[in-house]
Amino acid sequence: EKGGYEHFMLKEIHEQPRAYRDTMLSRIGEGSETTLSEIQLTPERIKSIGSIHMVACGTAYHAALVGKAVIERLTRIPVEVDVASEYRYRQPVIKENTLVIAVSQSGETADTLAAMREAKLNGAQVLAITNVVGSSVAREADHVLFTWAGPEIAVASTKAYTSQLIAIYLLALHLSQTLNTTDALARAELIQGLKKLPEQVESMLEDTRQVQRIAQELSGVSDLFFIGRGLDQMVALEASLKLKEISYIHSEAYAAGELKHGSLALIEDGTPVIALATQEHLLEKTISNVKEVKARGGHVIAVALSGNMPIAGTADDVLYVPRTHALLTPALSVVPLQLLAYYTALAKGNDVDKPRNLAKSVTVE
Ligand code: M6R
Repeated sequence: EKGGYEHFMLKEIHEQPRAYRDTMLSRIGEGSETTLSEIQLTPERIKSIGSIHMVACGTAYHAALVGKAVIERLTRIPVEVDVASEYRYRQPVIKENTLVIAVSQSGETADTLAAMREAKLNGAQVLAITNVVGSSVAREADHVLFTWAGPEIAVASTKAYTSQLIAIYLLALHLSQTLNTTDALARAELIQGLKKLPEQVESMLEDTRQVQRIAQELSGVSDLFFIGRGLDQMVALEASLKLKEISYIHSEAYAAGELKHGSLALIEDGTPVIALATQEHLLEKTISNVKEVKARGGHVIAVALSGNMPIAGTADDVLYVPRTHALLTPALSVVPLQLLAYYTALAKGNDVDKPRNLAKSVTVE
């Protein structure tokens, strides 16, 4: 049942190219149009959306954070993202023209369901992005966009996260197509980029020796940091959670520019810092943050787009990911970091698929 892999998590990491393809299938045509026929949002309704609230937990929350950036960029609709367990209690301003997007792999997360119910009670339309057909989230939502990642067994979510990203890109494209907020050329560029992702992930999965070597080194440390700017920060949060869940190593993720406002005090000789640097329009600033870390003795492992020379001269190690559209980098940069979490946990002899204290789907608030 593990298809020859030692763990479900590794199998699911390797299933990502297929999951990307399935999530895109029949939703992207030959040209640059997207068709999301299963969601019943009429053009009139889309044009009337005043704001979007995204609610989710854990990894799905991290996908929603990427979603905010992408949806705002393409549609200019303001997007707020809430951890689902907090949403109800802050008395959010929900109006009839608010679209609430719930993101959940299992579709059974109690916190997410409670947030959805709050939204409906206040007259908002709810759109669910979920992986499980027939799940509570799918049944209760007004519109459902399935992620088609296939069953995810490992507690640590991998292919569900990346297929949520794909679904979110498609949704953002779909909304912007109707709203005419992004020109056809820009949309076509994104779609070309999306179509290339499966092959690019395949190429990253071919040889994982460098990641395995770094994982060996990390398996002996007790604390580490992830930093990044823009979308890299969202991926840093996800990579940090992944590592914590299964390797039990303490880690924190920061906006790279925020480190110097306090946490830099924790960097000592040899402290590992994983610096995501795929957002090349922010590269100069990220590099100066990396230098701040290096000056305190930190050991920097960068994640950068292939051919990024400036980072090679600054970091101790670089994990390269294939070049893609700046908005799509999370769908690639997370992959080596999923593998890093996996191999680090493996090196520590942990139960990778069933980490301590955690359940696959959390059905209590
Ligand atoms: O099924 P859901 O997507 O609603 O689950 C949300 C979180 O419980 C889940 O993503 C959790 O954080 C994972 N264990 C992360 O790997």
